[in-house]
Amino acid sequence: MARAVWGSRLGFILAAAGSAVGLGAIWKFPYVAAQNGGGAFLLLFLVMVFTLGISIMIAEMTVGQISQKSPVGAYRYFGGKPWSLVGYIGVACGFLILSFYSVVGGWTIFYMVQSVDGSILIPDTLLLKQIFDAFITNPVEPLGYHAAFMAVTAGVVLVGVQKGIERVSKSLMLMLFLLILVLIVRSLTLPGASEGVMYFLTPDFSKVNAKMMLEAMGLAFFSLSLGMGCMMTYGSYVSNETNIANSAASVVGLTTAVCVLAGLMILPAVFAFKLSPAEGPGLTFIIMPAVFSHLGGGQFFAILFFFLLFVAALTSSVSLMEVVTSFFIDEFNMPRIGVSIIMAILMFVVGIAASLSLGAWKEYTLFGSNIFHLLDYVTSHLMMPFGGIMITVLVGWKASRPVAARLALADGTNPWWWPAMKQFCRYIAPLLILLVLFQNL
Ligand code: TRP
Repeated sequence: MARAVWGSRLGFILAAAGSAVGLGAIWKFPYVAAQNGGGAFLLLFLVMVFTLGISIMIAEMTVGQISQKSPVGAYRYFGGKPWSLVGYIGVACGFLILSFYSVVGGWTIFYMVQSVDGSILIPDTLLLKQIFDAFITNPVEPLGYHAAFMAVTAGVVLVGVQKGIERVSKSLMLMLFLLILVLIVRSLTLPGASEGVMYFLTPDFSKVNAKMMLEAMGLAFFSLSLGMGCMMTYGSYVSNETNIANSAASVVGLTTAVCVLAGLMILPAVFAFKLSPAEGPGLTFIIMPAVFSHLGGGQFFAILFFFLLFVAALTSSVSLMEVVTSFFIDEFNMPRIGVSIIMAILMFVVGIAASLSLGAWKEYTLFGSNIFHLLDYVTSHLMMPFGGIMITVLVGWKASRPVAARLALADGTNPWWWPAMKQFCRYIAPLLILLVLFQNL
């Protein structure tokens, strides 16, 4: 069977941006930035994004496009058998991420339902925190939503990449972007909001430490969908005429913009409503209902917001599942339907453990982390950085010729930035990632 291709270049950019923009930008980025002191973290994050992020985005997409394979096959194509191991680790990483990602995806459905019901449209953040905590620690309720989220994800992947993914991404992404702009205006005009703006935008370098650098790097990988072969898989569905570098830059720019805007939407409100910036994973879910309660037509906006957040999460979860399923399809010729269903069930089961670890199974910890945080930590702070080292080494050394040829302009010359990117991939990127990792040991 011929390999599916995207309908157009724009379709590819939107699908890749759909993969990148998700809970990472709107749920994870705001709470991690808030926990890590705001401005200095933002700066570090931007440095990571515009050095490692952009290079790895171009590298992954190009490697996928040339090999027309998902990670295992792509690494094998360029590096031979031993390199396929990197692909396997990427597939495992996608499996682990989606297991807990789907739990949080389920939270967005719960909040959508609660917005329709109207019960969460209250200004009292203390009460909102209680509602959030009671929900995520409940042993049963979140599992139903987790199941629903995983089922919808599998459903989209079943239909196939182009029909399933490209269609959902288009208009809804634009709506999300516009809605965030409206909500920023509301957030910024709340009394006391300026303190939050200061916190988010003025770097306090005395707060910078090794752990923050690792957090910023892990978050850059996570929110751009890098380091596990996701963008490689999406690149493999691109026809060979398409210029990938511009698309890669657009995806990085767009996603980073959404991260920063999400910060501007949430942090001013956090200070206005006197919630602790160290609140953690509940931050977006606790603060946004309070913002809606101070907004005309708040209920409408609440429903719209959580619906669009759900869609953003879905276009990301679909990309994670696509990595896992296309691996079995490409490597073992297994049918798409069977693989999607079996993998969804397995990830659902691991996700149950992640969800329960926030409540009933709180005591079961490893290195002081519950299962939920462990999955998050291992993927963002170990597996994705490992993938980042390997893809930059591959593109800097083993595959630099075919990649340069693929990135060449119409007249056959290399783009001006290629020599810099090659040196960066050869030496700086792997060393930078290793340095950040080792500083934390
Ligand atoms: N980037 C997505 C988000 O921010 C999550 C995601 C999708 C992802 N595919 C990925 C993260 C691959 C790491 C690797 O919500």
